[in-house]
Amino acid sequence: MSKPVVLVTGANGEIGRTLLQRLHAEGRYRVVTVDLTPLAEKYRSLCLETYAGNIMDRYLLDQIAAHHDIEVVFHLAALLSTRGERDPELAHQVNVEGTLHLLRMAQNQSGRLGRPVRFLFPSSIAVYGMPSIQEKAKAGRVREEDWNVPITMYGCNKLYCEHLGRYFTRYFRQLGALATAARLDFRSLRFPGLISAETVPTGGTSDFGPEMLHAAARKQPYECFVGPEAKIPFMAMPDAVSALVRLLEADRAKLTDTVYNVSAFSVSAAEIAERVRASFPGAQISFAPDAVRSKIVDSWPEDMDDTRARNDWGYAPAFDFERAFDEYLIPTIRERYNSVPPPSAGAR
Ligand code: SER
Repeated sequence: MSKPVVLVTGANGEIGRTLLQRLHAEGRYRVVTVDLTPLAEKYRSLCLETYAGNIMDRYLLDQIAAHHDIEVVFHLAALLSTRGERDPELAHQVNVEGTLHLLRMAQNQSGRLGRPVRFLFPSSIAVYGMPSIQEKAKAGRVREEDWNVPITMYGCNKLYCEHLGRYFTRYFRQLGALATAARLDFRSLRFPGLISAETVPTGGTSDFGPEMLHAAARKQPYECFVGPEAKIPFMAMPDAVSALVRLLEADRAKLTDTVYNVSAFSVSAAEIAERVRASFPGAQISFAPDAVRSKIVDSWPEDMDDTRARNDWGYAPAFDFERAFDEYLIPTIRERYNSVPPPSAGAR
């Protein structure tokens, strides 16, 4: 039997690049990608086929589906939370309408193949909305169903798409003649802030963590857009990708829900700054909080309760705060920037 085809949207993004490497290393899937920008050369050889195009283009999605028997979708394409506040309508189009297009495509594929296409969807800590710093401190680790009152367009979009996915999985066409046809199999993870040693995110509000680290490694000063006390959970990128793959491969009978919190370590901006300074003693980190971005971070919980993921499919992150920095972030980032010449080197 040939290996199943996996479609990855937003493949050029932060999660996408690490996921492509992981899927290639595991060797169990053939990967097709779609992203607005052409996939970087280094990643193209890991894929069966790559498409440059917009997920809003239904014709393109139909073309991709016509050419491949897609069994799995990782729908990673999205506009993150800060970007979404700058252009809420565009965020809604990409994050909601785009997701609907992908769900429709995956649903059609499920019907055509006669078995459920697995649809993996990264949701976010942004679906929560803590009303105040006091309430946030009091709540501590929040469960999936608590505080689902987001204050960003991105958070609203992710929360709604979680519901759409659940709807497609359990109720799609419940009244019609197709009520007994195969439905897709939607599985979603609510990620905390993600930190990668290889890429810096763009347009997010948890970006202060990774930005601080990458600026220090590049010997650049960094002005943090939240205050030192701002605290949310983070996760190292390899753990995020492992969680996605693990959830993909989980036995459906063991899944009690379609949405799962996953968390790794909860730290303040000051603690990240201190850890970054320990590895890069010359790091120039200052705090210049932006009122709106700080408010967004303050609306996200201090930590997420991921008991459901641990119980249902054995979620267990490999990296806590110390290990993430000692064994992954610092060594990988040093290697990354040591092999890249400083920006002005070629101009001299
Ligand atoms: N990292 C995302 C953001 O900051 C949250 O999921 O928008």
